[in-house]
Amino acid sequence: MLVLVGLPGSGKTTVGRQLARRLAIPFVDSDHAIENRLGCSVREYFEREGEARFRDIESEVLNDLSQTHAGVLSTGGGSVLRPENRQYLRERGRVFYLRSSPEEVFRRLRYDQNRPLLQVSDPMARLRDLFDARDPVYKEAAHYVIETNRPSVSTLVNMIIRQLEQIGELPTNLKTGTASQSMNANARS
Ligand code: S3P
Repeated sequence: MLVLVGLPGSGKTTVGRQLARRLAIPFVDSDHAIENRLGCSVREYFEREGEARFRDIESEVLNDLSQTHAGVLSTGGGSVLRPENRQYLRERGRVFYLRSSPEEVFRRLRYDQNRPLLQVSDPMARLRDLFDARDPVYKEAAHYVIETNRPSVSTLVNMIIRQLEQIGELPTNLKTGTASQSMNANARS
């Protein structure tokens, strides 16, 4: 299992989806899995039940997914906050931190209304605080850090694939079973 962690808006879902397509392995986003379980949006649940309740569900879903999912897992930005979550993800997968600056995230998310943590009067200040608090935690959770101040999603996907190639862990070795040939061909393109 390949796991992407990082701030909201760092590109985890977009990069994760494309990475999974390139490697021909399944993709799941933990926030979507949580929404399926809850039957409502993350934002709605956050507002109604509060962050602590959300973190409990998030932890359960991450525990389940990290035991069953053989593919790419994109996580919600707060997934690494609890030490037990970091442990599940690190032990059960290869964890990549998509490291974006608060300024970069702000540029991407300025009009987004789905991120409950950013529905505040000064989202830029909030992002700086989140970055300061979480950057060390993402680093602790991750095996690899990918700086996202790069031009395109496909560049980031290639960086991750190159990293996997270097350590001899393209998904043939990742319990995925199928589709490794086309993946190897793509990885070199
Ligand atoms: C959160 C990030 C969100 C979502 C929830 C909390 C966070 O996911 O899980 O709103 O604490 O950073 P994204 O990183 O996909 O926005």
